[in-house]
Amino acid sequence: ANGDPAKAAPIVNQVCAACHAADGNSASPANPKLAGQHAEYITKQLRDFKAALADPNKEGVRKSAVMGAMVAALSEEDMVNLGAYFAEKPIKPGAAKQPYTNGEKLWRGGNAASGVPACAGCHGPTGAGIPVQYPRLGGQHADYIIAQLKAFRSRDRQNDPAKMMRSIADRMTEQEIKDVANYIAGL
Ligand code: HEM
Ligand code: HEM
Repeated sequence: ANGDPAKAAPIVNQVCAACHAADGNSASPANPKLAGQHAEYITKQLRDFKAALADPNKEGVRKSAVMGAMVAALSEEDMVNLGAYFAEKPIKPGAAKQPYTNGEKLWRGGNAASGVPACAGCHGPTGAGIPVQYPRLGGQHADYIIAQLKAFRSRDRQNDPAKMMRSIADRMTEQEIKDVANYIAGL
């Protein structure tokens, strides 16, 4: 992706900044931080939100009442430029939420008994992600992480290639979801 951040700036200021902040470090824990996220991942999410407008139940799409309304008017070029814009903003570090009991253990080693793999294996030991497929999670709001794991489980979100996240979220308990999200917020 060779997006142009300068071309995205007017869209960010008029539309996205209200929820994600112009520097991508959203204040509200319901709205994900986009700062420091991989450009290709951001662009893919925007495409997947848009694809859900045509068919919300199709494999590979991501349903979102809020973001669906935002992407309707975006062109493919806009989506590439927006990815480039947020990717180059530095993410402001967060703090782990207490308690995170088994969160670090899950992150590093998963849960062999229930078949949950180590998150670090795909999202990187420090949570920086592995471009282009595996998003950054480190520093993300815990509430947003929790909401996404539940969305994978309920199938509101079904845009993870090869069902990687759906099959993982299916095996996680409520407590594990909370613990790992609280830990991730401080990575
Ligand atoms: C999610 C981009 C405008 C609220 C996302 C995601 C991206 C994104 C890439 C997915 C992040 C991830 O997977 O980590 C944008 C862009 C915008 C925009 C480029 C402007 C064109 C807004 C606005 C709001 C908003 C104005 C609030 C009214 C949200 C929420 C989510 C989200 C709540 C979580 C989605 C869900 O799971 O339902 N946005 N956004 N966004 N955004 Fe935006
Ligand atoms: C996406 C959490 C393990 C592959 C995500 C997201 C979360 C998450 C919250 C959404 C990020 C966002 O919306 O910004 C976790 C946790 C794990 C884990 C807590 C450990 C319990 C893994 C593993 C893999 C993986 C082991 C690889 C086999 C992916 C991929 C996506 C993703 C490919 C992007 C999906 C897309 O393109 O929309 N993960 N993950 N994850 N994860 Fe994981």
